[in-house]
Amino acid sequence: MKKVTLLDKTFEVSIPEATINDAISTMAQKMNHDLKGKDVFFIGILNGSFMFAADLFKHIDLNCQITFLKLASYSGNKSTGTVKRLIGINEDLEDKTVIILEDIIDTGNTLDSIIRQLKGYDPAEIRIASLLYKPEAYTKDIKIDYVGIEIPNEFIVGYGLDYDGYGRNLRDIYTLVP
Ligand code: IMP
Ligand code: MG
Repeated sequence: MKKVTLLDKTFEVSIPEATINDAISTMAQKMNHDLKGKDVFFIGILNGSFMFAADLFKHIDLNCQITFLKLASYSGNKSTGTVKRLIGINEDLEDKTVIILEDIIDTGNTLDSIIRQLKGYDPAEIRIASLLYKPEAYTKDIKIDYVGIEIPNEFIVGYGLDYDGYGRNLRDIYTLVP
């Protein structure tokens, strides 16, 4: 398996680029079907979702807009449990169908905080799409409407996801080698 070293850790490929692309195109097809006729506002959560959002958006065939918001809850490879404020909303989300685009949902703490804050903007509905999802780590009851790939509770990098800022440029997804 292809390996990469970032700072002090070694990772090996666990999800190849082709599998990621297939999962994204399946998610997009489902959205195109489900959201037809709605006024859709995609919201990519930075930094991690930038690559996923860009690739997904190319497959979207809807009456839609996209924006990016920022909120950081992670440092190193362990969830801190503290979630920061959502910044960057200048758009009018009232009566829109908002689709949150996340790179990964781990405990769900970040998602919970994002939804609480977005509800204040009076969207018609909020749906959640995450490329990756760790079911064993998830602690919330919030339904995740679109999941690309379910993964074990292990630390990963690549395709927008980082280890202390590094590894976002990798085309495949890599898992930490213990
Ligand atoms: P949660 O709040 O625990 O659901 O964590 C969500 C955020 O933590 C994601 O948006 C990522 O930025 C980061 N994260 C969670 N798991 C990983 C991982 O395995 N690798 C890199 N970042 C991760
Ligand atoms: Mg993130």
